[in-house]
Amino acid sequence: MATKILVTGGTGYIGSHTVVELQEAGFEVVIIDNLSNSNIKVLDGIQAITGIRPVFVEGDCTDMTILRRLFADNPGIKGIINFAASKAVGESVQKPLLYYRNNLNTLMNLLELMPEFGVKGIVFSSSCTVYGEPDVNPIDETAPIKPATSPYGNTKQISEEIITDYVRSGAPIKSIILRYFNPIGAHPSALIGELPLGVPQNLVPYLTQTAAGIRKELTVFGNDYDTPDGTCIRDFIDVVDLAKAHVVAMKRMLDGADTDAIEIFNLGTGTGLSVLRLIESFERATGVKVPHRIGDRRAGDIEQIWAIPAKANEVLGWKADTPIDVTMANAWRWQQSLPKS
Ligand code: WQD
Repeated sequence: MATKILVTGGTGYIGSHTVVELQEAGFEVVIIDNLSNSNIKVLDGIQAITGIRPVFVEGDCTDMTILRRLFADNPGIKGIINFAASKAVGESVQKPLLYYRNNLNTLMNLLELMPEFGVKGIVFSSSCTVYGEPDVNPIDETAPIKPATSPYGNTKQISEEIITDYVRSGAPIKSIILRYFNPIGAHPSALIGELPLGVPQNLVPYLTQTAAGIRKELTVFGNDYDTPDGTCIRDFIDVVDLAKAHVVAMKRMLDGADTDAIEIFNLGTGTGLSVLRLIESFERATGVKVPHRIGDRRAGDIEQIWAIPAKANEVLGWKADTPIDVTMANAWRWQQSLPKS
């Protein structure tokens, strides 16, 4: 009997890639998604890759009635991976209450229902944004948590505290918190990938749309930072490598091994790459030039951040090892599969 996992936000970018890896690892997957930032056609892509169509419930995790009905209709869910959240940094500054209500109520609803339905563990999608601008790089999980620079980042910090307090209160659950660095790329099949709505805020989808001629030019937000080439540095991690980490984390939580009730892992490659170096990687990998110019800095950007992934490497036995040029080639193949409009 396959172990059943609930993936909230499972038709989203990281969620869909994680569903594929869960299915390929033998888990049975139930998805709930309100489709506010994704497309139901993603289910076709998942099924085309794995041959298995996940159970799909269209619904909002802030609605306790919908969630309770999902657990009742799908008995035997043993674990949850919670991706369902609003995630645009800039939008969170404009609409803080939407972000606090959506991201925090979603998590609290799930936590409250877990003991009621015998759910053992929850993997939480957190972000390196909880560290703010690190004093030194690279950073491990002991780096200080600085005051959030956006409501989005604050919801991640508060969510981690909510989980911690709930587990410490004696709730019979476990949690693994995964702090992502910068997820990029697409599944090698080009059947699923990033589907930003409107003008992409993140670098790679804007870059691939520029390469495809959908955008006229990529603006590099500043080259006067204190870095080797003046542009910001990030730890860009392949989305499939990231997805695989969730499978390993879920197995660790459910194996009943004597592990801490809460564990936190940085998920990065351990390599910092600048914006200009990433553009070069794309051009090298695809042979396609990306028209770009240097523009002003973007408000809220931190200068540089990249991970020490040693804890995840050693404890989870997981490593992000997809070469950046391969990730860029996958991102391009996915972009070419999309309509030009
Ligand atoms: C990366 C670098 C930009 C666009 C955010 C969130 C993080 C996670 C990922 C949700 C920066 C530069 C970008 C462009 C550019 N979000 N850039 N031109 O800001 O590091 O992380 O998204 O899970 O929590 O904080 O990612 O891709 O927006 O930017 O020069 O058109 O690319 O200045 O240096 P970021 P990003």
